[in-house]
Amino acid sequence: MKILVIGKTGQLGQSINEIVSKMQSCDEFVFVGRDELDLSDKDGVVSYFENNNFDIIINCAAYTAVDKAESEIELANRINHLAIQKIATIANKQQIKLIHISTDYVFSGESNIPYLESDVVNPINIYGKTKLAGEQAVLETMPTDATIIRTSWVYSEYGNNFVDTMLRLGKERDELNVVSDQIGSPTYAVDLAMAILHIIQNEEFLNSGQKTQIYHYSNEGSCSWFDFAKEIFELTNIQCTVNPITTEQYPTTTQRPRNTLMNKDKITKTFGINIPYWEVSLKTCIAALKKKQ
Ligand SMILES: NC(=O)c1ccc[n+]([C@@H]2O[C@H](COP(=O)([O-])OP(=O)(O)OC[C@H]3O[C@@H](n4cnc5c(N)ncnc54)[C@H](OP(=O)(O)O)[C@@H]3O)[C@@H](O)[C@H]2O)c1
Repeated sequence: MKILVIGKTGQLGQSINEIVSKMQSCDEFVFVGRDELDLSDKDGVVSYFENNNFDIIINCAAYTAVDKAESEIELANRINHLAIQKIATIANKQQIKLIHISTDYVFSGESNIPYLESDVVNPINIYGKTKLAGEQAVLETMPTDATIIRTSWVYSEYGNNFVDTMLRLGKERDELNVVSDQIGSPTYAVDLAMAILHIIQNEEFLNSGQKTQIYHYSNEGSCSWFDFAKEIFELTNIQCTVNPITTEQYPTTTQRPRNTLMNKDKITKTFGINIPYWEVSLKTCIAALKKKQ
């Protein structure tokens, strides 16, 4: 099979690339970045697929700057929604299977129990709204052969993320205030990458004509950003005091959902995936970061 991975410079794209480069696979993987396939350029997207054929597309690319999206609505919509609509149209026409990554930010965050895939969506910021529009475009355009995976709080040894920021700030400061009333599940990009690579080998996924589905994937367990920060410092022996603060005490331009825990029974049961607990995966990531130093 010929598999296109869009977003080669992102956390998830790099994680997939790293795993694929170490495994023996009969599949051919093509990794593209903005230079080869710019999602903000509709005509460019069309002409890219006129010249290249694939069996599977894994779209890891997105406009992910949550705060900036509030002032770059048009661009965020072009990348997270309109480009996905175009890709889904092409995939549908050319009978290409599509895996598209979405977000827990499609939910309002007001639920006290983990969200199911079928729960009502109601994003409270522009990023969430554009990602939801992308999901809906896939569902409308590809009634079959697409898989949408919603994930949350992605971190890795690649690029900018919460772990990376805490490690930097923890070394610079003696004390940090971190929000303790937003609850979720961190996702180690390498775990999600492995889950995706497992899914594309699964019969359920490979059979053509399968109804398009949404799945939730994050690591197991739950925590607040405050808990997450404390664990990062504990694992790295960084002597930085973490103080819990409320969302109101940490003003940002963007509203963020309070509780975006997601129920993952559907993905684990359908594909027989074992999901590691977030503390275990955080340890793995920190070990990988140490190795890179
Ligand atoms: N990060 C999180 O906490 C989080 C949480 C929930 C869901 N997700 C979703 O998970 C997926 C993967 O996230 P991630 O953390 O791996 O993202 P990331 O590290 O921010 O990477 C985003 C990728 O998208 C690419 N991209 C942005 N604009 C593009 C454009 N116009 N054309 C082509 N490529 C473009 C970036 O390329 P450049 O390097 O050239 O900018 C980069 O490769 C995304 O769908 C995201 O929405 C992420």
